Amino acid sequence: MPETLIITPNQPKNAVYEEIYPQIKALVENETDLIANMANIASALKEVFGWWWVGFYLVKGNELVLGPFQGPIACTRIRFGKGVCGTSWKEKRSIFVPNVNKFPGHIACSSASVSEIVVPVFDENNDVFAVLDVDSERFDVLDKTDMEWLEQIAKLIKQQK
Ligand code: SME
Repeated sequence: MPETLIITPNQPKNAVYEEIYPQIKALVENETDLIANMANIASALKEVFGWWWVGFYLVKGNELVLGPFQGPIACTRIRFGKGVCGTSWKEKRSIFVPNVNKFPGHIACSSASVSEIVVPVFDENNDVFAVLDVDSERFDVLDKTDMEWLEQIAKLIKQQK
């Protein structure tokens, strides 16, 4: 397992993902512990992109409960269908919110966060068992490229039996 990420500076976003994706894959593929893998993925993404907040919520009963993350303290529980995270879980799809003020029901864990991407993490039965949430304090940082790569990264996470 690599101990540091190799990141070439000043590359276009897509090239950054192409560089880090295999490293994240190597980081998680030989580790079976779900929390350890989520923690390392959150850390890797925070280190590489410096987003305001990046982390996971895990499905527990009819709620999402805060999991491994990097960034300021956050809401601990989100109900099914609530906020961007709960909507992503309910609708089993990724959601890119360029401006959170325009997403009805957005849950403001931090007033600094203005833009957000939430990607579901699926189990073998195609049920959502977690979501990956990325928040930015800027309007011009997150985009569809991030969403597509975050979907690929989410696929690296296997539900722990
Ligand atoms: N904004 C999210 C809540 C989680 S925090 O941003 C970390 C939402 O609306 O679901």
